[in-house]
Amino acid sequence: MPEFLKLAAQSELPAENEAKEFTVGDKVVCVANVNGTINAIDNVCLHRGGPLGQGMIEGGKVVCPWHGWMWDPETGEASHNPAAKVRVYPLKVESGDVLIEL
Ligand code: FES
Repeated sequence: MPEFLKLAAQSELPAENEAKEFTVGDKVVCVANVNGTINAIDNVCLHRGGPLGQGMIEGGKVVCPWHGWMWDPETGEASHNPAAKVRVYPLKVESGDVLIEL
């Protein structure tokens, strides 16, 4: 049975075409809103560990604020190299709360 934990209230989610960091337990995740579609990925960029949730969204991708690597929040793949992948976490919304499966 997968365990879903509370990530945030739905009202705290990032605005359209923005990303935001959230802490769940001892983990930090990056939540991206691409044209209203919400996805959660690991916050740690595989290049040098940049905080993806502090990046911007460009062309539907999360842009790492440190050196600009771009990540697809739906698949977790890096744009320049699909073999580089950050984890994507399942989300669901229940009575105004956003839940995440870590
Ligand atoms: S740490 Fe993310 S692009 Fe360098």
